[in-house]
Order: sequence, then structure tokens, then C-alpha cells
Amino acid sequence: DWTMAAFKDEAIARIREQVGKGRVICGLSGGVDSAVAAVLIHEAIGDQLVCVFVDTGLMRHGEAEEVVTLFREHYNIPLVAADEGERFLSALDGIDDPEKKRKTIGKLFIDVFEEKAKLAGGADFLAQGTLYPDVIESVSFDGGPSVTIKSHHNVGGLPARMNMKLVEPLRELFKDEVRALGRELGLPEAFVGRHPFPGPGLGIRIPGAVTKEKADILRAADRIYIEEIKKEGLYDVIWQAFAVLLPVRTVGVMGDERTYDSVLALRAVTSVDGMTADYFPFDHDFLGRVATRIINEVRGVNRVVYDVTSKPPGTIEWE
Ligand code: XMP
Repeated sequence: DWTMAAFKDEAIARIREQVGKGRVICGLSGGVDSAVAAVLIHEAIGDQLVCVFVDTGLMRHGEAEEVVTLFREHYNIPLVAADEGERFLSALDGIDDPEKKRKTIGKLFIDVFEEKAKLAGGADFLAQGTLYPDVIESVSFDGGPSVTIKSHHNVGGLPARMNMKLVEPLRELFKDEVRALGRELGLPEAFVGRHPFPGPGLGIRIPGAVTKEKADILRAADRIYIEEIKKEGLYDVIWQAFAVLLPVRTVGVMGDERTYDSVLALRAVTSVDGMTADYFPFDHDFLGRVATRIINEVRGVNRVVYDVTSKPPGTIEWE
């Protein structure tokens, strides 16, 4: 795609001009945006870039390993990886308010990121994979006064605290353009095509208080759901699909026994940019198969429901 190739060259020139001989630090979330930003910046300034990946314990199955392998082995980009799951889960202990959960995760993320950045030798610039929709969604609403719809989990606050300037090379792009740029930069298709994943991770897919046990149940169920969607050849036509572990238990029967376990909701939507979305019309046999597999294979779930709400009026995540 010649347009993307041209954008890439321009973006590289702009990064070089902005950064000069300075050092840049980039937080990787596991998602496409931060990975594309990092690889682009690495093309521009090579080893003036260092990446930091914080495993919050709220990542999808296999995500942490994939990121580490991609950056260290595939690209040879210096990466500080920190497994901080226990810290995040203990900070979240007992917190059930959605905005408070977001703030707790966001604040701890900043603390941990700052620690790791210092370990990595500090930097003059902070790189972020902010996209155009992030810029609008978190700035204003309805043309009225600035209202934050939700506290977006990026490392806002950190640049000032650490006296760093921001490098945000994706600020003009929509998601599909970021993917095209990722392909242009040679990112593996499996990584580029990945569904978006929110910064606060599984923390906002467990309404109510988050625990390690719940995160493990959700990760296992989500993995099965995504596996079945891929088998069906639907992964790439869906914008985002994921499971949500509800804070509701219901009665079921397994063999001769009565169970009293959690309800899991499945979500899948089509969308162009995440700002509006339609629920995906799976056929019922497919949903039945996924439900059966999850209930048989994941202890702690005995009922599965499918979310048929579009956005608006719903949001994509449940929080
Ligand atoms: P909602 O739930 O608001 O989500 O309809 C719209 C899109 O944004 C993603 N999302 C986030 N992405 N940090 C992110 O980087 C966040 O804090 C965050 N919250 C939601 C969500 O997954 C969906 O794609």
C-alpha cells in the first residue's frame, strides 16, 4: 500500500526530527497499537529506544510470552519485562467500582512503569500508541465542555512527573490504518490482526471485585471462545470478541450434582473504529458448541449467555 509506505517514511522523519539524539521509552501493552508505535520508532532511531512491558496479571492467555518473543527474538529490540501480577491483584483487592478499578490499575501501572523506566536508564521521551479515536473519545463529548467518558488507560500523568515529552506517531490513524502500518513494518499477521484489548485488560471484563481465581477462569474461557471463533474462520470479520465473567452465580446440574457457579457472558461485535458497534450474529449451533466446551472445560462456570447489545446504547466492554 503506497499510501502507508509514504506515511511510514514521513512518520520516521518526524520522529527523528523530534527526538534527535534523545532516548525514548515505550510501554508495550500487548496490543497492536503500542507494538506498531514501538517498531516504527525503532526503525526511526534504533537503540535509542527501550521498551517496557508490564504484565499486570490481567492479560489474555499467552499474551505476555508473545510480546516478549516478538520484541526480543523477532525484532531484537531491547525490552524490560516485568511480571507484576501479584501487585496488581493485591491493589485491586475488594474494589468493585468500575472507575475506581480503572484508576487503581492506571495508577499502579504508572508507578511500575516509572520504576522499570528508571531501571532501564531513564529517557527524554515517552512513546505512546495513541490513536485518533482515543484522542477524540477522551477529550470532548457532544461539543460541550471537556468530559472524560472513561479514564483511558495510557500513561497520562507520567510524562510530566518524569519530565518527559510525548512521542505519539499514531495520533492521526484509525485502527485499520495502524494495522496496515504494522504490516508495512513487517509485524506478523497474527499479531497485526489481533482484536483490540483495553489497557486495564481483564480487570474491566470482571464486573465487581477482581481476584486471581476469577482472572484465571476468565482467561481459560476466553481462550476457548477465541479458539472456536478462529476455527470457524470468523476471527477476522469480528472487530472484537471476548468473554466477561459475571459476579452472579446460578444453579446448574453436572452429572448427578447440583452446581452453584458463575455466569459467563460472550461478546462479539463488528465495528470500524470502536466508536459504534453491532453485535455479531453468530448462528445458534456455534454458540451452543462454545457454551458446551466452556462449561465442560472451565471449572467455576456453569452457564453461558450471549450479549446482543449494540453500541450505542451499550459499550463494547462491560467494565
Ligand atoms: P467501549 O467499551 O467504551 O470501548 O465501547 C471502545 C473500545 O475501546 C477499548 N477500550 C480501551 N482501550 N484503553 C484502551 O486502550 C482503555 O482503557 C480502554 N477501554 C476500552 C475497548 O476494548 C473497545 O475496543
